[in-house]
Amino acid sequence: ASNQMWGGRFASGPAAIMEAINASIGFDRKLYAQDIRGSVAHSQMLAHTGIISAEDQLKIEGGLNTILREIEDGSFEFSTRLEDIHMNIEARLAELIGPAAGRLHTARSRNDQVAVDFRLWVKDEFHRVAAALKGLIAAFLERAEEHAGTVMPGFTHLQTAQPVTFGHHCMAYVEMFSRDLSRVTDAIERMNESPLGAAALAGTGFPIDRHMTAEKLGFREPTRNSLDSVSDRDYALEFLSVAAISATHLSRLAEEIVIWSTPQFGFVRLSDSFSTGSSIMPQKKNPDAAELVRAKTGRVTGHLVGLLTVMKGLPLTYSKDMQEDKEAVFDAAETLDLMLAAMTGMVGDMQINDHAMKRAAGSGYSTATDLADWLVRVLGIPFREAHHVTGRAVALAEEKKVGLERLTLDDLKSIHDGITDDIFSVLSVQNSVKSRTSFGGTAPAEVRKQIRYWKKRLAKA
Ligand code: ARG
Repeated sequence: ASNQMWGGRFASGPAAIMEAINASIGFDRKLYAQDIRGSVAHSQMLAHTGIISAEDQLKIEGGLNTILREIEDGSFEFSTRLEDIHMNIEARLAELIGPAAGRLHTARSRNDQVAVDFRLWVKDEFHRVAAALKGLIAAFLERAEEHAGTVMPGFTHLQTAQPVTFGHHCMAYVEMFSRDLSRVTDAIERMNESPLGAAALAGTGFPIDRHMTAEKLGFREPTRNSLDSVSDRDYALEFLSVAAISATHLSRLAEEIVIWSTPQFGFVRLSDSFSTGSSIMPQKKNPDAAELVRAKTGRVTGHLVGLLTVMKGLPLTYSKDMQEDKEAVFDAAETLDLMLAAMTGMVGDMQINDHAMKRAAGSGYSTATDLADWLVRVLGIPFREAHHVTGRAVALAEEKKVGLERLTLDDLKSIHDGITDDIFSVLSVQNSVKSRTSFGGTAPAEVRKQIRYWKKRLAKA
């Protein structure tokens, strides 16, 4: 059979394989609500400008509302022969209201139609991600408040570096996820323009009102170039890049949780709801949710690279290649939503083992920098020389198999005879942390200040 939409030019229908490679209805049916919203707005504008009659517009809008109900109650029959969501809906509209349906597509093409549908969908998803990020940030703020004074080792190269607090570590993630949130906000601002009315690529001779449809659909204004309107997929690429960056943050956190929950570290204990047992080893409690968050990052990043690669060779304007944008974005969105929800759950209910954290904080000569700083501050020794003196103290402690704070005053004096009893005050992890009062430092008072800052700022957001 020849095609219902372009049968005028085509004598026979597509080969089965053509239909299989061409059809997008299997995934773009997700856009049904946006497609109907766009068509309702378009029809209202067409009637308002006198391009179609008010009577036809009423039929069109009534028919579209019926279709919305049919899709939502599951009675709508999707057809692969009709390629995509746009043609499935239009064909059903013709069945429902007859010839008036044929007037809906006046001054419009599937090129601007799919562009507006997809923008509406991506914009909604950006808002969902923003809400999920706020939930995760709130969970971290709560943990940070509880643990502003809980000492843990800070790492570089995953080697014990200097003592920090768990609250401070939580606040590092607050910074990261807040940047993700601001990227979402920026991206929404940039993509908040309506491409509807660009028609196939050149605009239209009909006296349409693009400002009206832009406003009806909740966009700030119409896009300014018809060619760009139908060939732009930056909003999809930006969604994927924001998603990939945020997924990368989630993955680093997941990796930390995997490490922290090993018996060797024992810093955190995952709740039963976010871990699994082993079918053979009864003692095991595995951090599967964290591992899967770490793994799913590969998918999200893969979709970003995938779509960048699809777009890179496309001449202006629309090419069918662009139909490949949807599965990438849909899967990345679904994956990111799940990752954010799982991580928010894990962060909220993991148990913190203060004792194990503190014990680890004191190992590995973590207060060596404090010793060097004391030599600079009290004895006026240049830092580079103090570093050298401290290195000898660490070597001695290593030789005696004790921590720095367990060296005797005589031990220390043998390295530098200016050292006094006062030095022991800086060798405890608690005092080390307390002394880091520089802006953004790990001192509990400073951490509490940052918590207050973010609480106030997020309340306004
Ligand atoms: N299903 C198509 C897509 O997702 C809709 C646009 C089709 N336009 C066209 N000229 N064939 O990109």
